[in-house]
Amino acid sequence: MKVYIRTFGCQMNERDSEFIAGLFMEKGYELIDSPEEADIVLFNTCSVREHAEERAISNMGHLMKQYKNKIYGMVGCAAQALKGKLFERLPKLGLVCGTGEIAKLPELVEKIVDSSGGLNLRYLEEARKSKILACENIDGDIPELRSRYRENNKRAYVSIMRGCDNFCSYCIVPYVRGRERSRKIEYILNEIKGLGKRGIKDITLLGQNVNSYRPDFVNLLGEINKIQGVEKINFLTSHPKDANIELFKAIQDSDKIIKHLHLPLQSGSDRILKLMNRGYTREKYLNLIGEARNIIQGLHLTTDIIVGFPTETEEDFNDTLNLMKDTKFGMAYIFKYSPRTGTEAAKLADDVPADVKGKRHKILLDLQREIHKRKIYEKTRCHCVN
Ligand code: SAH
Ligand code: SF4
Ligand code: F3S
Repeated sequence: MKVYIRTFGCQMNERDSEFIAGLFMEKGYELIDSPEEADIVLFNTCSVREHAEERAISNMGHLMKQYKNKIYGMVGCAAQALKGKLFERLPKLGLVCGTGEIAKLPELVEKIVDSSGGLNLRYLEEARKSKILACENIDGDIPELRSRYRENNKRAYVSIMRGCDNFCSYCIVPYVRGRERSRKIEYILNEIKGLGKRGIKDITLLGQNVNSYRPDFVNLLGEINKIQGVEKINFLTSHPKDANIELFKAIQDSDKIIKHLHLPLQSGSDRILKLMNRGYTREKYLNLIGEARNIIQGLHLTTDIIVGFPTETEEDFNDTLNLMKDTKFGMAYIFKYSPRTGTEAAKLADDVPADVKGKRHKILLDLQREIHKRKIYEKTRCHCVN
């Protein structure tokens, strides 16, 4: 049996897909990189903006029209958010599996594969009717160490925590990935030691807010720094409310940790930051990056911005624009606000018109391109891979 997995969304999802691929391969399935020949087609989906969710649904709809008699599964964040609604949108769907149950995927698929290895069409029909769902246990961890499969033999993602407790008002992640859980330090260190022995020298630690790793992120970095064979350590994402001087010093003092910080700002307006529930002010953010730039030589500073959050005025937007002009990020990912069902912000009217969002988005993109073109961020830039 051949499995095809397509990933949408962030690095955490990429790591989850790799984990899922490993589970299937351990059971004897073959992983292939195009859907035509596949018996099983899985989409590991993202729900962070409406566009990401819709793209996965419509792409899957196209595949279903093109190729009959395959098992189609929606997995991950959008699966967790939409659950059974996905069967209504995609009548040919065989299974839906949320973020907390991905370790069960081969088991779920086996139910719709017959004993000779072919598709059990009768069961597939039943599965569709009974709506095979595995979305409940989003607070449970996944036994990541069970899968040793790694796509790349030079660099690897290592998930150090799952979920998020910050509940930024616009964000679906805490709802689709559950409460924050830190993996035990010995599991993480053993995994990285194993990777080091296999010659994987470049490690990226993953978490929605690595600074709130418990008990202590800076200590974890120090321990990883000691591991033989590891030469490069990167991590994402840092939350500005939890990043601190100890972290900056640890980055500066280590010759393995990449001099890169991704510190999402989201908005330069205090009023909007408060509505977003981000837990810091413009001033606090500016002080923080001032300290980071003082302590870390050659820091590459990157950020995320949302334009068009509910009630955002020209004045609020100009606060963001001016902050970006002054700060000159090495890179900024700029998004148009998209209301997500179930979040606090979705209770507010999405009142910034689409054309205004579009205009603000373009202004910031153009500014960032200009900063890049004129290389005026150069003096604070390192040569890391990002
Ligand atoms: N945990 C990380 C990443 C979250 S998702 C962090 O806190 O930075 C990545 C980015 O998507 C966010 O930083 C934010 O800029 C953007 N985003 C999240 N929800 C959004 C929404 N509803 N509309 C538009 N952009 C959103
Ligand atoms: Fe979402 Fe905020 Fe958590 Fe990031 S920190 S995942 S933006 S709730
Ligand atoms: Fe990542 Fe999208 Fe889920 S950004 S955590 S895949 S909602």
